[in-house]
Amino acid sequence: MSVSFKSQLAPKSLEFKPSEIIISDKYCAILTIISYPKAINEGYLANLTQLSGIKICIKHIPIAFSVLSKMLNKEIADMKARYQNEHDRTIQEQIRQDYESIENFIQMLTATQARIFDFQMHVMISADSHEELENKKVQVKNYLDAMGMKGLVLRFEQEKILKSMLPIFEANDIEERVGTPIPSVTMAAMYPYVFDSIKDPGLSCLLGVDYSGGVILFNQFLYQTKKEFNRNNANMIILGTSGSGKSTAAKVLLRSNIRNGHKIVAIDPEGELEDMTRLYGGDFIDLGKGGDFGMINPLEVVLDADEDEMKDGVGYAILTRTLQTLKAFMKYYSPDIEEDTLTMFSEVVQDTYKRYKIDYNTDFSKINSHDYPTFDDVYATIKGRLLSMTEHTREREVMERLELKIRPLTRELRYYFTGKTTIDTDADFIVFNIRELMNADNNIRNALFFNILKYAWGLTLDREVNTILMVDEAHMLLADQNTLGAEFLARIQRRSRKYNTGTIIITQQPTDFAAPNVIIHGKAIFDNASYYLVMGLRKQAVDDLARLVDLNDQEKDSIKRYSQGQALFVCGSRRMRINVIATQQELESFGSGGGL
Ligand SMILES: Nc1ncnc2c1ncn2[C@@H]1O[C@H](COP(=O)(O)OP(=O)(O)OP(=O)(O)O)[C@@H](O)[C@H]1O
Ligand SMILES: [Mg+2]
Repeated sequence: MSVSFKSQLAPKSLEFKPSEIIISDKYCAILTIISYPKAINEGYLANLTQLSGIKICIKHIPIAFSVLSKMLNKEIADMKARYQNEHDRTIQEQIRQDYESIENFIQMLTATQARIFDFQMHVMISADSHEELENKKVQVKNYLDAMGMKGLVLRFEQEKILKSMLPIFEANDIEERVGTPIPSVTMAAMYPYVFDSIKDPGLSCLLGVDYSGGVILFNQFLYQTKKEFNRNNANMIILGTSGSGKSTAAKVLLRSNIRNGHKIVAIDPEGELEDMTRLYGGDFIDLGKGGDFGMINPLEVVLDADEDEMKDGVGYAILTRTLQTLKAFMKYYSPDIEEDTLTMFSEVVQDTYKRYKIDYNTDFSKINSHDYPTFDDVYATIKGRLLSMTEHTREREVMERLELKIRPLTRELRYYFTGKTTIDTDADFIVFNIRELMNADNNIRNALFFNILKYAWGLTLDREVNTILMVDEAHMLLADQNTLGAEFLARIQRRSRKYNTGTIIITQQPTDFAAPNVIIHGKAIFDNASYYLVMGLRKQAVDDLARLVDLNDQEKDSIKRYSQGQALFVCGSRRMRINVIATQQELESFGSGGGL
């Protein structure tokens, strides 16, 4: 026996109560709007329609001018009579104002020839239980109140109203009682279709199209010429599950940035930027294969300090920061390292620097790659100290533990970590790749990743050019809840603006940024980005993202359903649904690497 389509669609049960309707297992109530504010703005109802769990029905029925003028004349006559009989001065004044507003209305009508409609609006609220429905009713009523509207549940009329909301029923008498005459101009503004679009002036990127099909021209460095909509920096975070289109969106952005003459420094763990780098004459540096291809000395410092600080000879600030960074490096390399070993490491490193005449008084601007010690030297310091510790003390025990940690760096891992920096590039498009290491132990991969990040950051510090620092698969940096590493990334986010640098941080796992130990830094990383491109995510990830970024229920819901290329674009204080568009040629120019 086949079940008819109609009976499949129909609710299992339908029960009308005086002030609610039970449809299958849902509890519903319909609020009818009985009064509106005197003036409204464009897209007046847009916010209301974003509330979750409600449906809005609006109707407009034309009113013949003759009917309307009769209504108005009657209203005016009524008011006059009430005015004359009223003794309370305040109420009299209220009547006078209403009277005046009707007169203005008539004037406007005759002047603009606007047509008048009987405007009817119902808000249907649904919930899973009676209690939930009551709570929601209060919420929605308050919301309406704040918008200057008044909504009531008309008792014993719920059935008629439901029929009036549905297109399949004939008009019924409720429609003659609930409307408000509204001129067409005002009514047009009521409708919630507001198309917020982005058409930035200046050097922009054609990122895709918005909801209504309009193109999005996005200028990542807009803050340099114009402060608007809370767009204060050039930092962007791109989120989405695997294959949602993050890297593709990033490449669309990179391509425009290259065209606009900006410098690019990218960390590309999957090696998917290789074709693009070659196409645009960039420098593709393979660090996953070890020393012969390129070496970044973890002991090299980054000159990130204010110019004023530098003038004061504050090598102090730089060296302190360097020691912090080295500790972060050690935590990636050895996530379970004990605090005392880490402190000892910091001491040993300071000693080693001292042997190389580097201390708090050093002018780092005069030092180059060859002047820094390497892990061989750190290891030598440890060995030396151990020799001088003849007795079996606690200090010696800690030092022995440290020796065990450092030894592999100078032996089997020396191709990644031990040696002077050999990279020498002045390209405008620099890509660091560790593809070969993606299958290595996580700790080695993460330590190398972090070491590259530090160096890459150092390459973005030229204020004279706009630079993009792109980090794909950034969740690796948050692995093992490395607070020091998370803090480093947060610091980059905070300081990049000073150097005319914008970051593009890409991740599949917002969850890692919201983990208990690192959420303070995770929040800072997000708070210091003016832009987020949120592509499709799974439920858990959406919930975790909501702890880092404000998302309303409707947004949370739709993010779970996005398909490839679709995204919620948070652009300063504006947000909209967009489709990232890469043309066939663009996709080809991005090459074959990466993705699904
Ligand atoms: N907006 C788009 N238009 C057309 N094709 C797209 C778009 N976005 C993605 N694709 C296609 O999907 C593939 C996978 O996308 P992409 O590499 O950007 O995913 P991803 O989010 O970076 O995934 P992963 O997390 O695995 O790196 C791309 O190689 C491309 O072919
Ligand atoms: Mg990717």
